[in-house]
Amino acid sequence: MKNKVLILNFGGQYGMLIARRVREFNVYCELKPFNTPIEKIKEFNPSAIIFTGGPNSVYEKNAPTPDGGVFNLGVPIFGICYGCQLIAYAFGGRVESVAGSGNREYGKTQTVMDGNCALFSGLPAKSITWMSHGDEITELPQGFTAIAHSKHCPVAAIFDKKRKIYGVQFHPEVTHTVFGKEILKNFLFDIANLAPDWTMESFVGKSVKEIKEKVGDSKVLLALSGGVDSSVCAALIGKAIGKNLTCVFVDHGLMRQDEGDEIERVFSGRGINFIRINAEDRFLSALKGVIEPEKKRKIIGEQFIRVFEEVGKQIGKVDFLAQGTIYPDVIESGTGEAETIKSHHNVGGLPSVISFKEIIEPLRLLFKDEVRALGRELNLPEYMVSRQPFPGPGIAIRVIGEITKEKLDILRKADAIFREEIEKAKIKNVSQYFAALTNMRSVGVMGDGRTYEYAVALRSVSTEDFMTCVRTKIPYRVLDKVASRIVNEVKGVNRVLYDVTGKPPATVEYE
Ligand code: XMP
Repeated sequence: MKNKVLILNFGGQYGMLIARRVREFNVYCELKPFNTPIEKIKEFNPSAIIFTGGPNSVYEKNAPTPDGGVFNLGVPIFGICYGCQLIAYAFGGRVESVAGSGNREYGKTQTVMDGNCALFSGLPAKSITWMSHGDEITELPQGFTAIAHSKHCPVAAIFDKKRKIYGVQFHPEVTHTVFGKEILKNFLFDIANLAPDWTMESFVGKSVKEIKEKVGDSKVLLALSGGVDSSVCAALIGKAIGKNLTCVFVDHGLMRQDEGDEIERVFSGRGINFIRINAEDRFLSALKGVIEPEKKRKIIGEQFIRVFEEVGKQIGKVDFLAQGTIYPDVIESGTGEAETIKSHHNVGGLPSVISFKEIIEPLRLLFKDEVRALGRELNLPEYMVSRQPFPGPGIAIRVIGEITKEKLDILRKADAIFREEIEKAKIKNVSQYFAALTNMRSVGVMGDGRTYEYAVALRSVSTEDFMTCVRTKIPYRVLDKVASRIVNEVKGVNRVLYDVTGKPPATVEYE
């Protein structure tokens, strides 16, 4: 494949964001560690390279540096923040700390740019950029010119036209840099002369061919949850190998209202083997009496594996296990140990339990929005492609305290009403919304009589990445309607609460 961009990650918070921005321009890119050996880089064969920012100082003893060979590949290079300083330093310039001098810049900064340089072509002479640096270039290397400055930063961008090496001190990838996208676009198309040929149509063709070659006449098993990733994965592999794919949907009885039937409707009749295992009794009896959230999660994960294992044995001779792993999962799994806040339930434990020859993950290089676009390309229904995330343990982690069928049914009804009204109200910027059943019962009055029933909590959050979130601003009229419908239509509920907590300190889910 031509037109590939390599992004070398120097540890900045924004590496993944740069990759997403590049892909948004239909240019294929991959994010790799800063110390990727030159042989691997040559194998990847990039048409352009981007250096990300990073928390270090280039002049420190153990500062992260790329294999020097990258500068001899003859491909255009674009350094961002630390990446820009690194270029200056590598070519003999000087980089110094300005932290103590009061010249440290953080935040929105008026920046003057040289419009004659291709990087800033078509931009106004002055605009706001996002700066975040304690070091700065104080002496330019030979062959380089300064092409931007701000009040405290005389060298806010550099370039060497001959070698097509560019650098900016600010962050074009964040939205606070008003013309950030245009700057990236100028680099990709005017400087690196790339073609925007990364489309989901081209991806389908390439992937189908690869899957066919790899799988041959063998069988593939896929754990289908009904979520976007596993659904798109099923449609893609199904297109490649048809009946040799078996999708197993384990209905643990913890799905939302009518969800199990919907999943079955979408996937049966697509020329794929689809098996639905109704395992409600098994899951509910394993969960009986359990109130501790982590214990609930572990039990659900364990039961899931057991069911899957049994199905695998029945089908027999399955060589491949397919998983809907996507690029953020791949990138994030390379970032070391973080404290376990919640044990996320997925199929990660499966391969050790059932013996497979290999795992196939056809979406492992795609971002979520690309997975959605791929789903549309594969003609999956829109509601399936654009659906909000739904956790593997299902609504079990939205029923606080002991799980019973009665509580699950109450929650399902309340949740369906809330989702229906949010969708009807066409509220913008909602990322995930659902109801949870608190373990609290309180006194109410209905039709002149006393009630003592459950309180339902409504949760609606807005977020880009689900690592942090804020509550969605839902108009009171919508909340009023939801509350009135829930208490009138759902037996067992007499109070409705709206959760206004962000993450942190709360999390999106309740358990
Ligand atoms: P938290 O509650 O951790 O949720 O703030 C962040 C996002 O992750 C989803 N989530 C899960 N997804 N398995 C999943 O596949 C899980 O066990 C799980 N727990 C939380 C949650 O819905 C939100 O989108």
